[in-house]
Amino acid sequence: MKILVINGPNLNMLGVREPDLYGSETFAALCRRIAEYGERYGVETEQYQSNHEGDLVDKIQAAFGNTDGIVINPGAYTHTSIALLDALKAVGIPAVEVHISKVEEREDFRQVSYVRAACIKTITGHGLDGYFEAMDFLREVLQ
Ligand code: DQA
Repeated sequence: MKILVINGPNLNMLGVREPDLYGSETFAALCRRIAEYGERYGVETEQYQSNHEGDLVDKIQAAFGNTDGIVINPGAYTHTSIALLDALKAVGIPAVEVHISKVEEREDFRQVSYVRAACIKTITGHGLDGYFEAMDFLREVLQ
């Protein structure tokens, strides 16, 4: 089983960026924990982060035929990107949307998620644990 974890813009700044909202754990530490999770549960993990919408689209398309599940935190593109929605729909790979913060309790402009329509589950406000809950969920669904 292969799970691709995709992080969108500014998530590479974890640990530095607004720690009150996103915590003080660094992006490198998150990546390490995801790799360790894969080793522990015998899941092949691939990780990708980009600040560029088209690169994220390319990565989702490239997952077609070689990836069983996607965990995606599209960052601010959550609220703007029909292209990411279309890419997820195009490949049809089961995807879980993750947000570190509780987006539903934040600004109005964060209340829309385009990608949600292509995701089988959404996890918000569980901090970095959300990524691991998403992978637990995908393992259950895919097994
Ligand atoms: C986020 C929430 C988004 O609104 C924001 O633009 C982010 C991070 C989250 O993980 O809580 O970059 O996706």
